[in-house]
Amino acid sequence: MAFTYFFRDYQTLDMIRQHVLPVIGTRRYINIWSAGSAMGQEPYTVAIILRENMGAMIFRNVKIFATDIDTSNLFGKIISEGSYPNEELQRIPANIFAQYFSPDPENPGRCVISEEIRKRVEFHKHNLLSFTPIRTSLGLIICKNVLLHFTEEERIKVYKMFHEALDDNGFLLTEQTQKLPPEVSHLYTPVVMNAQVFRKA
Ligand SMILES: C[S@@+](CC[C@H](N)C(=O)[O-])C[C@H]1O[C@@H](n2cnc3c(N)ncnc32)[C@H](O)[C@@H]1O
Repeated sequence: MAFTYFFRDYQTLDMIRQHVLPVIGTRRYINIWSAGSAMGQEPYTVAIILRENMGAMIFRNVKIFATDIDTSNLFGKIISEGSYPNEELQRIPANIFAQYFSPDPENPGRCVISEEIRKRVEFHKHNLLSFTPIRTSLGLIICKNVLLHFTEEERIKVYKMFHEALDDNGFLLTEQTQKLPPEVSHLYTPVVMNAQVFRKA
């Protein structure tokens, strides 16, 4: 199973609130791709960050496409149910946990994410090495802790695919240690120094 957890690398995800939301937050359709989403911890964290920073009505415009190669064929069910073992939810800030999670009535020892958050995340099985985007006109792509497993040549092709999938003002977010290959640096403009937030050039 993939290594991940809720609110992983919050400092980077918080860039969405600071830099991305002011641009895409008022759109009619706020389409986001969490590529290499694992079992939903990342896209659900992003959905919670967005909901914390926008009203209920605007939040309904958000759609997060969570995708993963998912060799186990289990992620779709896990993500749609939104039920996770209590011990995996320890790092979630207490106020957020109280607001968005409740004990799973059907599974003792687990908590389920609120329906409002669950409705905004949709899982699709997808291989990034197909180099075909799940869709275009995306406002934001988050791809963290995935590309490090690829060759440089594969990474370049994935960055080109992401560029194609973003809309004109779209953003790309990766992990801090993932540097943009020089072959694709002309496709993206860094939004902040020392952080991996880019805007489609
Ligand atoms: C370490 S997890 C990262 C999860 C989350 N993005 C995070 O940062 O916490 C890496 C994920 O990438 C997925 N993955 C690996 N190769 C992939 C591929 N070719 N296409 C799509 N997903 C892939 C794995 O299945 C796994 O769920």
